[in-house]
Amino acid sequence: MTARELILDAELRFSAADIVFGHGTENARDEAVFLVFHALGFPFDAKGPLLDQELTEVQRTAVEAIVTERISSRRPAAYLTNRMWFAGHEFYIDERVLVPRSPIAELIRARFEPWLVSERIYRILEIGTGSGCIAIATAIAMPNAVLDATENSVAALEVAAINLKHYPQLGSRLRFIQADLFPAEHTSYDLIIANPPYVPGDVAVSLPREYQHEPIVALEAGADGLKYLRRIIQYAPDHLSPDGAIIVDVGEMADIVDHKFSSVSFTWVDLEYGGEGVGIAYRHDFCN
Ligand SMILES: C[S@@+](CC[C@H](N)C(=O)[O-])C[C@H]1O[C@@H](n2cnc3c(N)ncnc32)[C@H](O)[C@@H]1O
Repeated sequence: MTARELILDAELRFSAADIVFGHGTENARDEAVFLVFHALGFPFDAKGPLLDQELTEVQRTAVEAIVTERISSRRPAAYLTNRMWFAGHEFYIDERVLVPRSPIAELIRARFEPWLVSERIYRILEIGTGSGCIAIATAIAMPNAVLDATENSVAALEVAAINLKHYPQLGSRLRFIQADLFPAEHTSYDLIIANPPYVPGDVAVSLPREYQHEPIVALEAGADGLKYLRRIIQYAPDHLSPDGAIIVDVGEMADIVDHKFSSVSFTWVDLEYGGEGVGIAYRHDFCN
């Protein structure tokens, strides 16, 4: 058996088992490639002859174990491999944090242009950092900015700290703070980024099994899904500089956000690489 054959086999098994994707991959093929390459220790851009080499018994057993585990446990692939890529960077991931997948990655890679003038962003706040993926990727993309990243969950902050250790050069510009949405210390930010929990309670309990492995505090946001967004929108203007802006990821809640919050108008970004619900509002888009 070769890697190419094992990928096809895994793809067919994932499709037959009705595996749910959306945690970094969108289909059975990509999920199979991700897991098979991981089990074989292949680089993620492996191609050509490597894929057609005859594998050893040990290699085949390793692939079989991870493919079977993915199907039987329904744990997202990132929890089986303890790794996920976000905005071009690799992060350590486990069940203490949400699997990184926010389409905000696209804006980070573009250094937030054309929405903002990146050279004029000096202070950034990320709310609800989880693994730290948004904060760390943003710190890398914006070398002139200093960042605060808040998180309520102590367990998630442990994972963020593991990830920050892999980027020691960022330590002087990025700090993780345990806080309820906004830091206690009052600072004026040029950019606030938030991918808060936004899943209504009744939806959260009926999500596919894959999502049940993620921390409920990273998904569920009260009966209407707006528990955190409501406070973020209410208090963001107090924490923004006069030319500052907030970027939110609210997934499929964009229409509801437009309808429910008359104090602000978001512009919803057309995302080139997929996803929905990424909005930007400048300080002057807030009524208060
Ligand atoms: C949707 S996850 C986003 C995680 C990460 N930023 C990402 O994009 O992968 C929301 C995060 O907000 C955190 N959170 C929930 N309530 C919070 C609160 N009151 N204050 C700060 N963070 C909170 C959760 O623990 C979780 O890590």
